[in-house]
Amino acid sequence: MKIAIVGTGYVGLVTGTCFAEMGTEVYCVDVDEKKIENLKKGIIPIYEPGLEEMVNRNFQSGRLKFTTDLKECINEVEVLFSAVGTPPDEDGSADLKYVLEVAREIGNAINKYVLVVTKSTVPVGTAQKVKHAIQAELDKRGVDVPFDIASNPEFLKEGAAIKDFMSPDRVVVGVESEKAEKLMTKLYRPFLLNNFRVIFMDVPSAEMTKYAANSMLATRISFMNDIANLCEIVGADVNMVRKGIGSDARIGSHFLYPGCGYGGSCFPKDVKALIQTARQNGYPMRLLQSVEEVNEDQKTLLFRKLDKHFGGNLKGKRIALWGLAFKPDTDDMREAPSLVLIDKLLAAGCTVRTYDPVAMDEAKRRFDDKLYYAKDIYDATVDADAIILVTEWKEFRLPSWTAIKKLMNIPLVLDGRNIYDIAELEENGFIYHRIGR
Ligand SMILES: NC(=O)c1ccc[n+]([C@@H]2O[C@H](COP(=O)([O-])OP(=O)(O)OC[C@H]3O[C@@H](n4cnc5c(N)ncnc54)[C@H](O)[C@@H]3O)[C@@H](O)[C@H]2O)c1
Repeated sequence: MKIAIVGTGYVGLVTGTCFAEMGTEVYCVDVDEKKIENLKKGIIPIYEPGLEEMVNRNFQSGRLKFTTDLKECINEVEVLFSAVGTPPDEDGSADLKYVLEVAREIGNAINKYVLVVTKSTVPVGTAQKVKHAIQAELDKRGVDVPFDIASNPEFLKEGAAIKDFMSPDRVVVGVESEKAEKLMTKLYRPFLLNNFRVIFMDVPSAEMTKYAANSMLATRISFMNDIANLCEIVGADVNMVRKGIGSDARIGSHFLYPGCGYGGSCFPKDVKALIQTARQNGYPMRLLQSVEEVNEDQKTLLFRKLDKHFGGNLKGKRIALWGLAFKPDTDDMREAPSLVLIDKLLAAGCTVRTYDPVAMDEAKRRFDDKLYYAKDIYDATVDADAIILVTEWKEFRLPSWTAIKKLMNIPLVLDGRNIYDIAELEENGFIYHRIGR
């Protein structure tokens, strides 16, 4: 089977590579010439565990091809995935300009049947817009070429993308024809063989499922952050509360970790987009509006704690920032809590010494010479007045506190992910603040 993936970003590259790994012939298409040239040379644009080796192996075998020209492959493939970005518009709704651009390109170029599958996260009704955009181009050309549309939202997590794609909890597919269902069943058969669930449904429900899933997870995080903040006020320990409620089978233990706010390329934008879809349809999403509000506040919490500790006098303070990526195992800093914190620290007159195992290049691109880029957590901590932990990388879990104490000016630790042991920090003479206690 031959397929094309248009948009070779995070999702497109992982999707294309994993399908190639399962024996499918895949064309990965992107308008970014540099990205495509680099991929042909084995240079991977993102950090994702295991991806580089899998891309290169499948590229060498000839099953995975990279091109900037959709026309080169469109009439060879049975299924075409669109995995371009859907960034937030000014009002928070998903900007569909790339999705519709791809649809028009398809309408311009197809001469035979193709199933067009939207993998990008798009609001309900987008598949119909894609269909109309393709048909409008075919009408302009005065040709009658059959095609189908489908929706196959992606649930992979950055940092565990390959595992999530290869062993999914479920695959959601929205179709409106039998032919589309047959093609998608054929494509996902290798996954079905392993007993993973492929859930077929109508297209609007598939589009909605993705937003509902991300909004649910964001809601759990904001809920726990709200509970954590109240725990601090009333003298409870949110870690205990988390264990207490997570052991209830009806609640479950996932996504109950309080912290310094959710970020990344998906939750913030998808929550905003769902609120906006609801608004456009005359329905106020009150719960999600609060989820967003709590998250925005939470991103400033570590700064507020630091400011309070120093009585509002942060000018000239030297701060070690451990972790920049929005979560571990990725170099993605989109909407990361670290961005809000860095801006506030710089505005307050602090110097910021940062370290992240993989996001340093991304931070340099964003902040240039405004930050000090350390070679490890110890270097970041030299003469620091405080350490702020923002991303819970594994390598940050067991630092040598005795060495760190000697390096610091003031032994103050603000833990934005609750990963350290209070007793151990206090025994070592640190002032330790965390979330929700
Ligand atoms: N990143 C994630 O973890 C994740 C997870 C699930 C779903 N999603 C969704 O998947 C979609 C893609 O996200 P991403 O993170 O992979 O985005 P990305 O920005 O990493 O990649 C998008 C790619 O599309 C390319 N592109 C734009 N217009 C094009 C065109 N006309 N033809 C060919 N290529 C074009 C860009 O050059 C870019 O390489 C979004 O809707 C996102 O919400 C992302």
